[in-house]
Amino acid sequence: MIPRVAHAGVGGWGKNVVRVVAELAELAWICDTDAERQAEYGARYPHTRVTGAFDELLADDAVEAVVIATPVPTHHELAKRALEAGKHVFVEKPPAMRGDEMEELVSLAQARDLVLMPGHLLLYHPGLRVVKELVDRGELGEVACVYGNRQNLGVIRSNENALLSLGVHDLSVILWLLAEEPSEAVAHGTAFLQEGIEDVVFCFLRFPSGKIAHMHLSWLDPHKMRKMTVVGREKMVVFDDMELERKVTVYEKAPWEPASSYGEWRTRTGDIFSPKIPNDEPLKLELQHFLRLVADGPGDHREALDGLAVVRTLDRLTESLRTGAPS
Ligand SMILES: NC(=O)c1ccc[n+]([C@@H]2O[C@H](COP(=O)([O-])OP(=O)(O)OC[C@H]3O[C@@H](n4cnc5c(N)ncnc54)[C@H](O)[C@@H]3O)[C@@H](O)[C@H]2O)c1
Repeated sequence: MIPRVAHAGVGGWGKNVVRVVAELAELAWICDTDAERQAEYGARYPHTRVTGAFDELLADDAVEAVVIATPVPTHHELAKRALEAGKHVFVEKPPAMRGDEMEELVSLAQARDLVLMPGHLLLYHPGLRVVKELVDRGELGEVACVYGNRQNLGVIRSNENALLSLGVHDLSVILWLLAEEPSEAVAHGTAFLQEGIEDVVFCFLRFPSGKIAHMHLSWLDPHKMRKMTVVGREKMVVFDDMELERKVTVYEKAPWEPASSYGEWRTRTGDIFSPKIPNDEPLKLELQHFLRLVADGPGDHREALDGLAVVRTLDRLTESLRTGAPS
């Protein structure tokens, strides 16, 4: 049976999300507080009810699931109200701005056996799926470090800093690839343009296994970079989302300690290859996953718990950014 879904927020990103929701489900409601957008979407989807009041769609018993793509500061409250109304929830990243708020959402979803899925888009990117398989199969050998580069000139946000706006993507990938939460989280950054809104942030994470990770997040940069590098003891892999064809490159490069000269390290350079990556749209794969959970049930709430780990780590990085001390 096709699920009946209500969608909130049809702005810059939400317009992509609602297009895919309409492809995959019955789009029963669209909610946006902006009157012009209500008129535009009412004309575009004549069989969908359009409102500016979130409570109206929550009151519709036929709505099974709610998709939220409104600005970040509204996520926690809207997601909470939707879960309390008994709806499954997909909420854009991050679902909450503080760890305790996210804990509240996860508890609500668990208590009511509802799906709570954060919009960690990159976990559904076919290129990063290949990277995850390489890591999990041990192809890279033991992973030593992972680092993300997410830089550009703009978009300059005014209600969230570069850590919250850009960091969620890379952090969700790093925690997923390593399947651990960090034991140490350090962030340094500076607000150059608007008071209290850091434009450039450098983050360092250390994990209980000894692995380390780094994120360079900035909207004040000459490079447009969307890159993740994983360094293993046997091989290294780079995911580059700016590449059209070679999104993933595997380097057979590694340190090597010849038996004849114990203690003296050399390096080995072998083939460099790019596996074929399916061209499927990550957003569609992500929402298909959500709708499968809606049909089958939330299971062990893995998606919600992964979201909690990300928000908890963001909390620690934010604290470190404020105090200058590790968290
Ligand atoms: N996954 C990704 O790659 C990705 C990319 C960009 C943005 N995002 C996320 O998507 C979300 C939306 O970002 P955006 O760039 O579309 O924002 P936006 O500001 O362009 O649009 C937000 C829309 O929500 C509406 N709105 C605001 N408050 C509302 C409320 N209480 N109820 C209903 N509608 C409300 C606004 O009128 C606007 O149309 C953010 O959480 C952002 O982090 C995700």
